[in-house]
Amino acid sequence: PATLGAAAAAKGRTFGAGVTAAKLADSAYVGILDREFSSVTPENEMKLDATEPQRGQFSFGPADRVVQHAQARGMKVRGHSLLWHSGQPGWLQSLTGPVLREAMLNHVTQVAAHFRGQVVSWDVVDEAFADTGGRRRDSNFQRTGDDWIEAAFRAARAADPGAKLCYNDYNVEDWASQKTQAVYAMVRDFKQRGVPIDCVGLQSHFGFGIPYPASYRTTLSSFAALGVDVEISQLDVVGSGAEQAGTYRRVVEDCLAVARCTGITVWGVRDTDSWRSSGTPLLFDGAGNPKAAYDAVLAAL
Ligand code: XIL
Repeated sequence: PATLGAAAAAKGRTFGAGVTAAKLADSAYVGILDREFSSVTPENEMKLDATEPQRGQFSFGPADRVVQHAQARGMKVRGHSLLWHSGQPGWLQSLTGPVLREAMLNHVTQVAAHFRGQVVSWDVVDEAFADTGGRRRDSNFQRTGDDWIEAAFRAARAADPGAKLCYNDYNVEDWASQKTQAVYAMVRDFKQRGVPIDCVGLQSHFGFGIPYPASYRTTLSSFAALGVDVEISQLDVVGSGAEQAGTYRRVVEDCLAVARCTGITVWGVRDTDSWRSSGTPLLFDGAGNPKAAYDAVLAAL
């Protein structure tokens, strides 16, 4: 197959890209997106500050445009994200205690309900663990009680029973890291107690202080063995040339080696679309030409 999406489909996987609604007006960008990718994740348009800028006032225009673009072309949509410690609107930051808890769960309910039936998998909670110490990250959500994550998953399940519900994080790629082990323990606990969780997203921003770890495949298979799917949710790789291509190739090989690794999403289309202010971390250069990393991914799929 001649495209990422078709090659991944032949292996029963999706190959997606993080996209922004504003760039859907860029014909070069859209040309690559529509040709190569079988899934999209809105980079920012479904986040809390975008969808509920004022308490109880919801705004779905840009997110709906991304969803419509995807649906019209048979692409899947990953929902990202319902709850995140970062990028919170002022109204939310000013709340605490039971009032915050209620606003938080209402947000999950309203947004998941709006996109009901349109999102294949939701990042219900993003980045809830601290980088060190194997503990939760301090946040306003966390201060409402340890059970805030499971409450969010239950609310999301009730609002959109057909969507797969994921926990998503970074720095959980290396099996040996305390953070990976802490997330693993939470997912195991959720499965044992019947908290509705279906998938784990590993952001996989490699090279930004986090090298690709030799244990990556072990991490993917270990989560999968808990009975959840794993998704490589925001892949990018610092570097260039053969070294970068080699890392991309290994990531694809690792995913294909794990039956429950259901898809790979790269966090942007061209290098110039990357959220990173510098570097060349993606599969297409700024002119839209496929890079060595692209050839390596296609060959590995
Ligand atoms: C990033 C977006 O790509 C940027 O456009 C935005 O300015 C900040 O957020 N982890 C996540 C993503 O879960 O939501 C972040 O996306 C990248 C890191």
